[in-house]
Amino acid sequence: MSRVAMLGMGHLEQCLLIENRSDPHPWGKMNWLRSLRDDHCLGWWEGDELLAISCYTLVLDDVSLLNIVVDKSSRGQGVGRRLLCEGLEWMQQFGGARCLLEVRLSNTVARNLYTQLGFAEDGIRKNYYPLGDGFENAVLMSADLPLAE
Ligand SMILES: CC(C)(COP(=O)(O)OP(=O)(O)OC[C@H]1O[C@@H](n2cnc3c(N)ncnc32)[C@H](O)[C@@H]1OP(=O)(O)O)[C@@H](O)C(=O)NCCC(=O)NCCS
Repeated sequence: MSRVAMLGMGHLEQCLLIENRSDPHPWGKMNWLRSLRDDHCLGWWEGDELLAISCYTLVLDDVSLLNIVVDKSSRGQGVGRRLLCEGLEWMQQFGGARCLLEVRLSNTVARNLYTQLGFAEDGIRKNYYPLGDGFENAVLMSADLPLAE
């Protein structure tokens, strides 16, 4: 049975495991330590198995999506979409009225997901992400909450 639940410092190793095998641009241990301690991190569980993670922070009524990653073996089954929707509903309880995010220009899968959920593109942040020897632009996106699913 699937469930969404808050993650804490005790989940560090599982977060690193999923991200390192599933995200071509992993956060790394220090970012996970800080985020699990300071932010709102939610996990998607099937039974005892953690399959996906998303992390958010809140400034006034702006929610920022900091990270979302679905384990490679569980992609394309609606997990990312449902985790993001539930995560943003969760953040509304704390006063979130809008969600902001940045995504790599080349990340068409994530951009499709966000567009499908009603996120609009607000602009470009040039050379924001490291990429090999150079940098890649970020696309800035936002949506009002609740999402119009
Ligand atoms: C982006 C990510 C979270 C999507 O998770 P997912 O569980 O595979 O996505 P879902 O199955 O919920 O699909 C939701 C939508 O995403 C898009 N999508 C999913 N897989 C796709 C693919 N292979 N090609 C194109 N679009 C795709 C589609 O719009 C899809 O909706 P649809 O099924 O109605 O067409 C996942 O690919 C991931 O973890 N990527 C690596 C980490 C990452 O890039 N995170 C985003 C950082 S900004």
